[in-house]
Amino acid sequence: MVKNVIIGQGLLPRLNEFLPAGKRVVAIVDSNVYALYGDTFRQFECIIVEASEEKKTLETMGKIYSQLIESGADRGVFILGVGGGIVTDIAGFAAATYMRGVDFGFVATTLLAQIDASVGGKNGVNIGGYKNMAGTFRQPLFVLSDVDLLDTLPEREFRAGMAEMIKAAIVGDAALFTLIENHDLRADKSLLINAIRAAVEVKIGIVERDETEQGERRKLNLGHTFGHAVEKLTRQFNHGEAVSIGIVEACRMSVERGLLEPSTAARIEGLLKKWGLPVETDLPRGELMKAIRHDKKADGDAIRFVLPRAIGEVEELKTKN
Ligand SMILES: NC(=O)c1ccc[n+]([C@@H]2O[C@H](COP(=O)([O-])OP(=O)(O)OC[C@H]3O[C@@H](n4cnc5c(N)ncnc54)[C@H](O)[C@@H]3O)[C@@H](O)[C@H]2O)c1
Ligand SMILES: [Zn+2]
Repeated sequence: MVKNVIIGQGLLPRLNEFLPAGKRVVAIVDSNVYALYGDTFRQFECIIVEASEEKKTLETMGKIYSQLIESGADRGVFILGVGGGIVTDIAGFAAATYMRGVDFGFVATTLLAQIDASVGGKNGVNIGGYKNMAGTFRQPLFVLSDVDLLDTLPEREFRAGMAEMIKAAIVGDAALFTLIENHDLRADKSLLINAIRAAVEVKIGIVERDETEQGERRKLNLGHTFGHAVEKLTRQFNHGEAVSIGIVEACRMSVERGLLEPSTAARIEGLLKKWGLPVETDLPRGELMKAIRHDKKADGDAIRFVLPRAIGEVEELKTKN
């Protein structure tokens, strides 16, 4: 498990303190981040990647391998992935597989990546439109999460990160849920740092007990079975927005089974709405179920859903296909 998740302010100017001494660094950088913060990264050889799900593919991976080979990168290279979840997933996969694996670290530049995508050691690319169908488990040496980088993050992307933060709170931290209910985290950086830390702790606590997702780690997939299907079938929603819709669907299923109080489901939906997140889709349910069956979380003849029982408590439901 990554021990070195550094969350705070004013960290980017100190980047070099965190890099392994004497190693050659190749940075894989999100193109939008490079346009904004290029001055920090120009000191390294940079491979610029466009952050879009359509580019999170094996084709992009092939181009990265070629660039690494052309630049003469050997097993001693250190890969620095800089960006949101798309680029940290791509850079992590490249680092885990180039020459059977080289050391790497991340500068996480979106709220979603700081809370979720950059921690936990999963990486991957999409295949044929299906999310993260190829990937590995491999831990970065460090993750640097500087909330100052979020100043330039578009509002919509910030909200998408809030969906994963609310997810983390439902999965394992009721106090975090209340904090999000009572404060505008974007307006208060020290509270935001505390909230990111709390969400990361929920994830790390679970991942430490189940790094390769044999059981408990699947709790972190709350909202994702449905959410991935929504993401697959429409370009209308980004990842966090699709997860928001998935969380509300999971609450609905949980209430139907008598596992969750309707008032708690309403509280969850209310908080997602407060952050301007979508809570429903008009996609046909049959289409969604078809996509879910193809999703990697379909397991043999069963589909797994994570259902909230209370704020801070979830359980897994395995349904027949
Ligand atoms: N590996 C995991 O455990 C894990 C967990 C959650 C999500 N993910 C993956 O993460 C991806 C979503 O990541 P995301 O939400 O960070 O989206 P993203 O990487 O697409 O970034 C969102 C947008 O913000 C831009 N951007 C990034 N940082 C910026 C900054 N500081 N200022 C201005 N613009 C900036 C990007 O260029 C992009 O346009 C999905 O592919 C999802 O599957 C992975
Ligand atoms: Zn997610």
